[in-house]
Amino acid sequence: MQDDRLITSSLREEDVKNEYSLRPHFLSEYIGQDAVKEHMQIYIEAAKSRGESLDHALLYGPPGLGKTTLAGIVANEMGVSLRVTSGPAITHAGDLAALLTNLSPGDVLFIDEIHRLNPNVEEVLYPAMEDFALDIIIGKGPGARSIRLDLPKFTLIGATTRLGMLSSPLRDRFGIKEQLELYSPEDLKEIIIRSADILKIEIDGDGALEIASRSRGTPRIANRLLRRVRDFSQVRGDGVIDVETAQSALNMLKIDELGLDAVDRKMLVAMIEIFKGGPVGLDTIAAYTGEDAGTVEDVYEPYLLKLGFLARTSRGRIVLPDAYRHLDYPVPQQPVQQMKLEV
Ligand code: ADE
Repeated sequence: MQDDRLITSSLREEDVKNEYSLRPHFLSEYIGQDAVKEHMQIYIEAAKSRGESLDHALLYGPPGLGKTTLAGIVANEMGVSLRVTSGPAITHAGDLAALLTNLSPGDVLFIDEIHRLNPNVEEVLYPAMEDFALDIIIGKGPGARSIRLDLPKFTLIGATTRLGMLSSPLRDRFGIKEQLELYSPEDLKEIIIRSADILKIEIDGDGALEIASRSRGTPRIANRLLRRVRDFSQVRGDGVIDVETAQSALNMLKIDELGLDAVDRKMLVAMIEIFKGGPVGLDTIAAYTGEDAGTVEDVYEPYLLKLGFLARTSRGRIVLPDAYRHLDYPVPQQPVQQMKLEV
């Protein structure tokens, strides 16, 4: 795993405290994801006017797009507390029982990476979600009996990068399902300007757009690059970020105009030169990038797919003409479209 890649959308150590200070607290401050925002606003207002807790919600999409942020916003908008945990952190059914019994009515329990929940824990979650009840087995063998414990009416917000890896009984228990999409450069520009304001960084609109365009549609990356460009502008410039400073800093960091880093380029070049544009299997790509296959699929591929540089086919990934052009390779004559039809 190469978590040292500056353009990874996975959470890095440095992001933890920085993201916390930059996080919007209410829907009105949340930039982009307009459809999700509109839906959530309606569900929240409706639940509040009925005096009920919000339905359980599943948020899915690539990392770094603001799923945890959105859970915090839901709690704030509903006027309740937020408890944050993650699938892998809940190892035993008892851990989940402890979390659930400590909730107050209406509270939001946020489970990140919910696709990684242990199946035994998932079993406990079903009645908790459906009936707000915990079934506890007391004793062993023939004398064992089950008692049912009532739980407060809470809201579960689950987040996952992999909708397909969620078991269908779990997926079906969420009344609300929302997909977060990669952000446009214009939305990221606004996010960068907002973050710069909070961090007291001077930046102009073109400087912000330059960073935005290289941030792979991901606020976490945008905020990270903003801090790296600030360092550069303090040492090499006058402390104000304009388009030239942003370009020089990001070029120095080997992040190109579209946000690709050296590893992305190496991977695409290998696919073009060695594999003639593909199809190339995911495991082969993973070996070339030094990442594991799941990380390639969840973290790095979504942006390359969105750019139209790669396509997924049943036989592996293929390189599309825009990637050849971006890397200054001649586009092959055999139309790549034919291969796409094999999907
Ligand atoms: N910081 C991270 N994501 C954000 C968003 N969507 N809106 C505003 N600030 C953010």
